Amino acid sequence: MANGPVFDNSKSEATHKGPLGRGNWATHIGFILAATGSAIGLGNIWKFPYITGEYGGGAFVLVYLVCVVIVGLPLMMAELIIGRRAQQNPVGAFQKLHREGSPWQLVGWLGVASGFVILSYYSVVAGWALAYIFKAIAGFQGTAEAIQGEFGELVGSPGQSILYHTIFMAMCIGIVIGGIKRGIERWSKILMPALFAILIGLATYGLVYTEGGGKALAFLFKPDFSKLGAEGVLSALGHAFFTLSLGMGAMITYGSYMKRDSKLVRDAIAVSFLDTVVALVAGIAIFSMVFHFGMEPGQSVGLIFKTLPVLFEQTGPLVSVPFFVLLTFAAVTSGISLLEVVVSYFVDRRGWSRITATLVLGIAIYLLGIFSAVSAWSVPFSGKGFFDLFDDFSTNYMLPIGGLLTCLFIAWVMKDKDRADEFGSRGALYMGLKFFLRYITPVAVLAVILHGLELLPFMEYGN
Ligand code: PFF
Repeated sequence: MANGPVFDNSKSEATHKGPLGRGNWATHIGFILAATGSAIGLGNIWKFPYITGEYGGGAFVLVYLVCVVIVGLPLMMAELIIGRRAQQNPVGAFQKLHREGSPWQLVGWLGVASGFVILSYYSVVAGWALAYIFKAIAGFQGTAEAIQGEFGELVGSPGQSILYHTIFMAMCIGIVIGGIKRGIERWSKILMPALFAILIGLATYGLVYTEGGGKALAFLFKPDFSKLGAEGVLSALGHAFFTLSLGMGAMITYGSYMKRDSKLVRDAIAVSFLDTVVALVAGIAIFSMVFHFGMEPGQSVGLIFKTLPVLFEQTGPLVSVPFFVLLTFAAVTSGISLLEVVVSYFVDRRGWSRITATLVLGIAIYLLGIFSAVSAWSVPFSGKGFFDLFDDFSTNYMLPIGGLLTCLFIAWVMKDKDRADEFGSRGALYMGLKFFLRYITPVAVLAVILHGLELLPFMEYGN
């Protein structure tokens, strides 16, 4: 079986180490932990609970689960297939699997650009999580208004926001410089088990020691479709992308360091499953406390940084410190995957050393992030802050467009042999995946994009 490089890329790789020098995951579990680490992040613990709260709970969760299965899982397999087949960064991968200079490389470029933009503001939120570890250690005290007001103070203080953004980016740079085995894999093996242990502890606390457990379960698992609407359905779909790290080549990049002997389909299922379970368990932990203290679940963006600290005043640091440590660990293992996408391009295709690439790009992303950290700065003529603009543009446009094009590439352009070899069979399951990637997934993703542009025919857009 021609499992080796698909074409001779000696020309483009002459100046650097080539596929064999790129590094691989040392162990299978190392890959699983790194990929789940990328998927599990602020999206699971910060975003998922608050959008679930906004769209009324169970019905949103149900639709989200369907989206993970029909869009997330096929795309996760698609990205891993592309990455492992090509053994290249996203830009190189599309060229290698199509042809040198192919226009499909633009999809890879879009991914590199998305990694750059997303990490710049992701690091700012991660910095808040880091800052809250220290606040939790000191203890949340005072009236509910005073505790909630602390968040506004942090966000409104450029000095503090930039300080924590700096620390977070330094951590990501430090890990990625270490390379695949000794940086990303080693740290994922430390941080992910710690994350699982903390999460289980917090969910147990929520279910056993608070009175809100039953209500939280009912809220998350009893569908009430009245608050969902088409808007909720599309948000669920968009979130499935973000939470599984899809649409920007992160899984192409991580897949490119996979050895050929692991079962890719099984791995894609494991990563998607773990990511979903963690979001649900985080939801149980958070909503148990919210209901126990009689608070409202639909608290939007402030759920984690404003509502929870008020509750933490009662529970004390034994609950609050692990919570923000959990959030920070989750953000670190996602941040490093965002940085790795950008770094891998400069290492693979430009011949930069890993150290130079990580430092130069890490610092460039850090500088861009300062625009998001200073909340008072807004984009000229738009009236919008940089943070909102970057978040909105990347999650609503860049990731879905990247995902749609990746889907079209693998379904209609990539050679059947390349695809089937990586999938491992041509049986019914493979035919099913092909069908989804050809007809179902792209249509669903297109709906998200059109909705972002307010162009979906059956929706009413107010203006
Ligand atoms: N999946 C991450 C989260 O849920 O927070 C965010 C993310 C990481 C998105 C890496 C995209 C990516 F490539």
